[in-house]
Amino acid sequence: MDLIRIRGGRPLKGRVSVSGAKNAALPLMAASLLTDEVLTLSNLPHLVDISTMARLLGQLGAEISMNGEAPEGGNMGRVLSLQAATITNTTAPYDLVRRMRASVLVLGPLLARAGRARVSLPGGCAIGPRPVDLHLQGLAQLGATIELSEGYIEAEAPQGLRGARIVLPFASVGATENLLMAACLAPGETVLENAAREPEIADLAKCLIAMGARIEGIETGTLRIDGVDRLHGASHSVIADRIETGTHLMAAAITDGDLEIANARLDLVGAVADILGQAGVDIRQNGAGLRVRRRNGLLAGVDVKTAPYPGFPTDLQAQFMALMTVAGGASKITEAIFENRFMHVPELTRMGADIATDGSAAVIRGVQALTGAPVMATDLRASVSLVLAGLAAEGETRVRRVYHLDRGYERLVEKLAACGADIERVKDAE
Ligand code: UD1
Repeated sequence: MDLIRIRGGRPLKGRVSVSGAKNAALPLMAASLLTDEVLTLSNLPHLVDISTMARLLGQLGAEISMNGEAPEGGNMGRVLSLQAATITNTTAPYDLVRRMRASVLVLGPLLARAGRARVSLPGGCAIGPRPVDLHLQGLAQLGATIELSEGYIEAEAPQGLRGARIVLPFASVGATENLLMAACLAPGETVLENAAREPEIADLAKCLIAMGARIEGIETGTLRIDGVDRLHGASHSVIADRIETGTHLMAAAITDGDLEIANARLDLVGAVADILGQAGVDIRQNGAGLRVRRRNGLLAGVDVKTAPYPGFPTDLQAQFMALMTVAGGASKITEAIFENRFMHVPELTRMGADIATDGSAAVIRGVQALTGAPVMATDLRASVSLVLAGLAAEGETRVRRVYHLDRGYERLVEKLAACGADIERVKDAE
């Protein structure tokens, strides 16, 4: 297994380019099940989760071909053509769903297109129980009958789905995506209230519209979908990854660097830019990218609470905590989306951070400097927070279990090294 070795203390300088968003790409790929024609997706990141989704779709009957790479900005920018001419199988097996929770996004499309779906329950994961009850309740309101049996969701809609008014008790990203996709092929009008407003959902809705869907209310909390008989093929380019953008913003800030982040939009990281601004980090839109550096060399502690978009994203909480470990004064971080999303805390503490947690809150007292240490990644965002801490720490940090990073960050080590970080991926001898 590989590990990442970092010798900290070098400011990041230069230009880094943001890849396509994993969290947009996964539902977009699942949307290919809604049509028998070809869906072509470009700007896909080269990540393990994308390959896992491709494998799952392949098992369900989709033919997938890779149409080369667009080298723009140094990104892989893959282009995939997906065609589910016929759905040959409606089961998403445990072995794939346990690897990637987003596999559950095939549930809505399968039900809508094939009238049935059997999808393994995702089960617990490192960042809390993460149930799928909202997905199931919503699909039941669209007319599906749903049973849980032997660890599987067994969903059927022999007469097809029909439009309905659904009020989500919580603006779940995955539930919104599953219901949006299913509703596109459900006759009648579906009104989805308290829908999640993440930009990845808007990206999905735009692609569905290009496939012939009728959707109104994009980017708002109320989506209105007028079901159509069939969808057709389309081409769509995946939006840039705002979580990767935010991670680079914090990498520049924690190393006291000066970075240009290409393919990044300030409006998609508004809450993050606000908080970083209060912490003393200057961020400006610079053409099609962002320029980031500290305002006067110092960082100040700022409190933050995670929230659904447009609030501060939970997927940047761990990275922000790494930044706060070296800020002047104290800060309080409250995690309001997931239970148990502080697994990076003991690892940051091993690097000299001063952090006390109490339930869903963490109080961080900034220290003069972090020190390098061997640390262990526990999930995708936790692992990148350890990389950020390592970039700023004195001495050498070794991050183990880097397969977590491969799920969501395309060529992270190469990108950071190109900006002057002393970082490499090596075989773990132990
Ligand atoms: C998506 C993102 C993930 C991000 C999260 C929140 C993808 C592939 N993943 O995950 O990176 O951290 O949004 O921004 O896009 N919940 C329920 N019942 C449900 C569904 C969710 O209780 O049926 C709870 C979850 O346990 C969690 C919270 O709602 O506590 C947020 O979950 P949700 O918005 O659904 O996140 P995901 O779609 O899983």
